[in-house]
Amino acid sequence: MATVGKVIKCKAAVAWEPNKPLVIEEIEVAPPEANEVRIKIVATAVCHTDLYRLFEDTGAAGFPTVLGHEAAGIVESIGPGVTEIKPGDKVIPLFIRQCRECRFCKSPKTNQCVAAWASTGNAAMAPPKSSFTCKGKRLNQFTGTSTFAEYTVVNELAVAKIDPDAPLDKVCLIGCGICTGYGAAVNTAKVEPGSTCAVFGLGAVGLAAVMGCHAAGAKRIIAVDINPDKFEKAKVFGATDFVNPKDHNKPISEVLSEMTDGGVDFSLECAGSVAVMRSALESCIQGWGVSVIVGWTNLEDVSARPIQMISGRTWKGSVFGGFKGRDDVPSMVKAYMDKKLKLDEFITHNLPLEQINDAIEMMKNGKCIRTVLNISTE
Ligand SMILES: NC(=O)c1ccc[n+]([C@@H]2O[C@H](COP(=O)([O-])OP(=O)(O)OC[C@H]3O[C@@H](n4cnc5c(N)ncnc54)[C@H](O)[C@@H]3O)[C@@H](O)[C@H]2O)c1
Ligand SMILES: [Zn+2]
Ligand SMILES: [Zn+2]
Repeated sequence: MATVGKVIKCKAAVAWEPNKPLVIEEIEVAPPEANEVRIKIVATAVCHTDLYRLFEDTGAAGFPTVLGHEAAGIVESIGPGVTEIKPGDKVIPLFIRQCRECRFCKSPKTNQCVAAWASTGNAAMAPPKSSFTCKGKRLNQFTGTSTFAEYTVVNELAVAKIDPDAPLDKVCLIGCGICTGYGAAVNTAKVEPGSTCAVFGLGAVGLAAVMGCHAAGAKRIIAVDINPDKFEKAKVFGATDFVNPKDHNKPISEVLSEMTDGGVDFSLECAGSVAVMRSALESCIQGWGVSVIVGWTNLEDVSARPIQMISGRTWKGSVFGGFKGRDDVPSMVKAYMDKKLKLDEFITHNLPLEQINDAIEMMKNGKCIRTVLNISTE
């Protein structure tokens, strides 16, 4: 290809500073260095964690940056030492790496990898290495991916090679939200057949958690959201009951406890609020209830009375649903291709990159589930 070994000039949505609209700029994307892969992004969706970075965790260093971490694309070129990926491969970039060699990768218990957060100690989810510049300034690569761009460069440990027939404008969702929610139910909570579950927050992550609870055989799935517009969609993924906390003047945990004779077996927090995390825990039944923190926030402490755990509840959390990206993402793509996993139903809007700020506004105002930005053709 004519671009191999050269700097590519292309469009990207740059976040110059927090709390400001993104700006479509021409950026320079360096050729991949050793163990790196340059990817032409075909489609990327907007996830709430992009908004968290832009509007909430604004004190952290990291701007200017290119956000975006839920995407799919085609490999344009590879750097020296890359063995498993070749130009032309269809891939999903991973915000949590899998080296396959560290003690975490070798354990079936977790998807944490020493290479996953290594360079940041987890703070910004963004390794300091960047291949992007714009107007003479270096742009940070959010979560090491930065998919709100026509091209990006990622480490080969952060690339999942997928079925060449997969439609990239759909399977991009597997790059974050769908694995995160689905895996939180099946891998982290380990939802059991016949159980009663509650999912708090019905964005794509929460709806994928509903889908996971349903796939695991839950008999009752209570969908909780302060935005009742979300309930219709939750039904599509298997929710059986719908609760809007605003309709009640007592704690939501009491409402759920009354509905379920003492509390749910499994609860999943997919809203990103420490208050909701506590409610989700308190909605679990004593003795064996399991509550999983999925929503993203690292700004406040989360608290609960010790008696909650002393009486037998378990409080857990997971990133990316506990899935090991390079191994499990291709399987999730296959599940979609085999019609065992829903994806199309999450996509409420398709927009060009130029309208990314509209996508962000819609998510802020609860007007979409996932907006897919169609960046380039396959
Ligand atoms: N752990 C991970 O690996 C991981 C990965 C991706 C996203 N996340 C996080 O998951 C969360 C959900 O992401 P999303 O993209 O689905 O977001 P979203 O904005 O589309 O959905 C969030 C939903 O939560 C609802 N909500 C807000 N406050 C609520 C409350 N008090 N009670 C009940 N519902 C409430 C909103 O109405 C909305 O429907 C975010 O915090 C995101 O950062 C975590
Ligand atoms: Zn995400
Ligand atoms: Zn590892």
